[in-house]
Amino acid sequence: MKRTIRDADVAGKRVLLRADLNVPLKDGDVADDTRIRAVLPTITYLRDRGAMVAVCSHLGRPSGPDPTYSLTPVARRLADLLGCTVPLMPDCVGEPVLRAVKAMNREDVILLENTRFHPEEEANDTAFAKALAAGFDVFVNDAFGAAHRAHASTEGVAHLLPAYAGFLLEKELAVLGRLLAKPERPFLAIVGGAKVSSKIGVLRALAERVDVLAVGGGMGSTFLAANGTQVGRSLREADREGEARAIAAALAKRGGELVLPVDVVVAPSADAAGAASARTVGVDAIPADLMVVDVGPRTLEHYQRAIAKAKTILWNGPVGVFEVPRFAAGTRRVAELLARANATTVVGGGESVQAVEELGLTDRMTHVSTGGGASLELIEGKTLPGVAAIPDL
Ligand code: 3PG
Repeated sequence: MKRTIRDADVAGKRVLLRADLNVPLKDGDVADDTRIRAVLPTITYLRDRGAMVAVCSHLGRPSGPDPTYSLTPVARRLADLLGCTVPLMPDCVGEPVLRAVKAMNREDVILLENTRFHPEEEANDTAFAKALAAGFDVFVNDAFGAAHRAHASTEGVAHLLPAYAGFLLEKELAVLGRLLAKPERPFLAIVGGAKVSSKIGVLRALAERVDVLAVGGGMGSTFLAANGTQVGRSLREADREGEARAIAAALAKRGGELVLPVDVVVAPSADAAGAASARTVGVDAIPADLMVVDVGPRTLEHYQRAIAKAKTILWNGPVGVFEVPRFAAGTRRVAELLARANATTVVGGGESVQAVEELGLTDRMTHVSTGGGASLELIEGKTLPGVAAIPDL
């Protein structure tokens, strides 16, 4: 177990808080503030105990300073949510930041500018980590979404200051850890998304743990093709069919069940233009000139039965081309079924989280992870460098 801010004496201390404020922006404003709201309990706890809090984060993947990736809109939203001023520093290191940190009073909150404006951040450069740590007494990591990155602000700095986990990091590790260590059974995983290759480690790990594995989305076509099904012009990774068969075999060896689509929505293309001529067919009748874009109603009935029986459900990735409304029905239905399930429901991964949010169902899930890549790596059994760097209790 990692030590957390409950174990730290932060009164009157200058705290460097790494958050994952890598949020989507639209028209110069925050489009989804889930990740900002998720870190509020930690900030409030620290302020209530008389700490001075400097929050740092990356945003996007800039290659050097770039105003498009400034945290300005995030500072605005954070100030609104906290109900206090949150000045944004012009940088995350350097003299002006040092002066501002020194001048802070108890309960003050400031935001440091995007850590990725410095290439040394991703290089986990020690001198840069030292510059980040300068002027602070304590480091708190609450950036679960970035914990799989061994960067200066997630990993390097944790070796230079007394380091503690924040509440969000603690919660994500507890929920995902429990899910993997002792899930209440039956344990169902629904995995979608475009490519088997991007989730191969996760599928392998789940095949060793779950009772039922439902595979949909683009990767469902690779699994179907691996079984000898003709999938027309569907997105399919021929070089991954062997892996798909190995995953199915590993699951079957443990007595687990693989749920593949039995019917699918097909269209000439996976975009809005293809939507007009979309139709549903059985998987044994996928036309050679069409591609799979969503799961069909009979497949969703199979999902419904598996969801009704399950006591633990993990969902990662859309089961259709979710960004095209005509092809989003399957993914939306999965979200609705999970919301009604009498089970522990954990949602991870960008677009499945987006579906749950768009439908206003976030509060109906046991846990919606703030980490895409980080939650996948955790499920795979990988060590997250940002977590490993925090001392155990
Ligand atoms: C995420 O959005 O998954 C995290 O913030 C990590 O971002 P990255 O993939 O750019 O490192």
